Amino acid sequence: MWFSLDTIVARAKRRGFAYPGSDIYGGLANARDLWPYGVEIKRNIENNRRQYFIQEREDIIWLDSQILMNPKVWEASGHVWGFSDPLVDCKKCQNRERADQLIEDYISQMKDKYKTIANKLHDITKNLFKEMDNLEENMNSTFSAIEYYENIGNWDFAKDFFTQEKEEIDKNLKTHKNKLEQAKEYIIILEGIKEWWIDEFIIRFIRWWVKINITNLNVWSRTFDQQFAFLQKFKIKCPKCWSVARTEPKKFNLMFKTQQGIIEGEGTDIYLRPETAQGIFVNFKNILDTTRSRIPFGIWQIGKSFRNEITPGNFMFRVREFYQMEIEYFVENNEEIGLKAFEEWKALSKKRWIEEMGIRENKLKFRDHDKDELSFYSKWTCDVEYEFPWGRGELQGIAYRTDYDLKQHMEHSGKDMQYNDPYTGKRYVPHVIEPSRGLTRAILTAMIDAYDEEIYTDGNGNEASRVVARFHKNIAPIKFAIMPLVKKDEKMVAIARDIYKKLSKKYMCEFDDSGNIGKSYRRQDEIGTPYCITVDHQSIEDGTVTIRERDSMKQERVKPEDIIF
Ligand code: GAP
Repeated sequence: MWFSLDTIVARAKRRGFAYPGSDIYGGLANARDLWPYGVEIKRNIENNRRQYFIQEREDIIWLDSQILMNPKVWEASGHVWGFSDPLVDCKKCQNRERADQLIEDYISQMKDKYKTIANKLHDITKNLFKEMDNLEENMNSTFSAIEYYENIGNWDFAKDFFTQEKEEIDKNLKTHKNKLEQAKEYIIILEGIKEWWIDEFIIRFIRWWVKINITNLNVWSRTFDQQFAFLQKFKIKCPKCWSVARTEPKKFNLMFKTQQGIIEGEGTDIYLRPETAQGIFVNFKNILDTTRSRIPFGIWQIGKSFRNEITPGNFMFRVREFYQMEIEYFVENNEEIGLKAFEEWKALSKKRWIEEMGIRENKLKFRDHDKDELSFYSKWTCDVEYEFPWGRGELQGIAYRTDYDLKQHMEHSGKDMQYNDPYTGKRYVPHVIEPSRGLTRAILTAMIDAYDEEIYTDGNGNEASRVVARFHKNIAPIKFAIMPLVKKDEKMVAIARDIYKKLSKKYMCEFDDSGNIGKSYRRQDEIGTPYCITVDHQSIEDGTVTIRERDSMKQERVKPEDIIF
């Protein structure tokens, strides 16, 4: 079932997952505060990954580096000169947009348009073929009849009838031929713009119309002049006021700049980190020496990153302050080994999205970058994309970044970043594979992917509906809700309290003594609680309780001690 982002946002607010930041002051563009259930989802994602990568694997260690780093870090990494978006201003309403984003949106509209045309043509062609098939069948049977009468020598007898038929067939044959020609034309057009050709068709059109030599639609690495030419030629309108008059694109660095120092105006310019990765690179050598790690090994960190995005939006998808979870996995400086490790990380990432997060496989797409889409230092990159309600968006990037980053820091800091292989005696700057996930985006994705509205038949045989968040049990913010059937029954409440006390030592639980079990179930379904435990009259007699499973709504009577304590 398809749900709009508004539905998810409304549920997030109503049930306490996430809320606009600084709300009492009118908010701050797209800043979101995580509320209790959102915080729990975040913690669960972190814990699951920590358990797998740090606890269960021997080859990955973790780090918590500073948000504020020496500004030279960002010069070495290339962020000071290169981490920018092309900014354009509408001349009429001063609305600010990203040129590449405007172009991307326009192309996606173009694709939709051609898809509709292609589908219409497909229908027309199919109908024509059907008509032609029928016609051919009719003509064949008439010809058989003519042949039959000719053969049995009754031609004179049926002459008039057959003459008329022959004229009719002649006429039909002409129509048939015309339609055949038409169908052939449609098929040729269709062939050109069938779904898998639409990209190529648009690329050729852009090359011809705007004279921009592109080979794939995911790249907007063309010069600012070319982007401007595209916006002008296609008369792309301002999304706010529909004007087409805008400034030429200019570089807008996405790093937040601030000052370190106690006297205003005299401090040093520093940046809030735009990614956690550089904290790993600058610590590489020290970590290597103190932990005595051996290649291949990885360093993992989770933390806040900041980007002054021109167009933040889609709830928590593109925000200015967000969490990232990045691993830099160091391997030998050998491309064959690097590419093998890259493929292994791709396969592992897929498994983790599905098994650890419970994300539906059919919503995920692993999109390898085309050659001309790759950064100059990257040997290979793959984006993990998810089918969001507004279209596909990136969840994670997996990049084979070679030795670019370490070499940059070696050059700028003057510190040796080489690894001494104790077995072969080789000295080299390692290559790196970087699986980089957005944690804030992962939280949003979990919320969207889990959301469901279900019609079912209730215990009285009536049709009922419920909203249910089908979170993976790893991710669900609350694992058990414990509820006494009668709020005022002291015995029931005492048993329920005891179960809560024991279970909550291990799991996030909620104690719900509202006394309205139906309402409580609906609330817990919407939060995504996998199990509800109800203490009732029978519990007082024989100590058993009912446990209800969220997805199947099946209830079982069990002894509390049989639920893992
Ligand atoms: N070190 C590589 C790097 O930072 P990136 O593709 O720019 O690569 C990695 O970012 C991930 O961080 C993205 O796949 C996305 O999930 C998340 N991310 C990036 N910008 C974001 C933003 N403005 N808001 C939320 N998440 C963001």
